[in-house]
Amino acid sequence: MSENRNADSHLSYLKGYIDGQSYPMSDQARGVPVPAYEKSVQEGQTIVRLPDPFLVKLTEPDVLRCLDNRVSSRVFKDSALTLDELSFLLWATQGIKKAADDERHQHHSVKRIVPSAGSRHPFETYVAAGNVEGLAYGIYRYLASVNSLVLENEPEDLAVKITEGAIGQRFCGAAPAFFLWSVIPYRTIWRYGLPFSIKAITLDCGHIGQNLHVACAALGLGTCMIGAYNQQYMDALFCLDGKEEFAFYMAPVGRID
Ligand SMILES: Cc1cc2nc3c(=O)[nH]c(=O)nc-3n(C[C@H](O)[C@H](O)[C@H](O)COP(=O)(O)O)c2cc1C
Repeated sequence: MSENRNADSHLSYLKGYIDGQSYPMSDQARGVPVPAYEKSVQEGQTIVRLPDPFLVKLTEPDVLRCLDNRVSSRVFKDSALTLDELSFLLWATQGIKKAADDERHQHHSVKRIVPSAGSRHPFETYVAAGNVEGLAYGIYRYLASVNSLVLENEPEDLAVKITEGAIGQRFCGAAPAFFLWSVIPYRTIWRYGLPFSIKAITLDCGHIGQNLHVACAALGLGTCMIGAYNQQYMDALFCLDGKEEFAFYMAPVGRID
């Protein structure tokens, strides 16, 4: 059998449990305080309030058609997204439905629109806005807790840099909005330790991608999930430290014919 077909040490992470052992003593079990469910905002950062996501007008409200119409789109019109649309897509992928408000459920932190193992929600959402009405060009982070965006970076030649980070996939840079989900693995590791957290994080992320697809279908927009990218380049472009938080999954969104 070739080395790739026999890569037991890597594939065992897919099982999440190695040699019959469940996850080891976790930081949660040791009494370490729960990590924050959302990164904080630094003093002086620009905050943009998002419109209510429920005000958006759906072009396709029939969920059966949305599911049936879902397809990866890699050609986008040179046309802006609206802030209403962006707000809806952010809510549909990582919106917060309920924050824990009592001591007993502190470890759950939040309930979001997508499921997550142990309600750990280890992701932050970034949007590179190249052409969104009412939003200045730049890279923003979604503050789901207050339905807002915080400006993180204003790099020049955003489209060129997104394309470069997506290892030459031009449709990524050409899209009016480019979503990037970073992962902060410790949010999940705090509860489950390793290796199970690797499986949990990977499974969690798929829900975000599918919700984005279905939400785009409801707005008549197109998207394509992106797993091929330059890790160091994207981490630097989105101001991620590459250790505690790093780029994980991404998707361009734009208008389609
Ligand atoms: C985890 C993952 C990573 C992907 N990465 C890329 C990518 O980097 N570039 C790309 O063009 N498509 C990417 N895709 C999209 C797939 O190629 C696409 O879903 C597949 O060809 C099936 O087509 P469909 O989505 O239209 O049904 C990715 C999809 C997934 C789920």
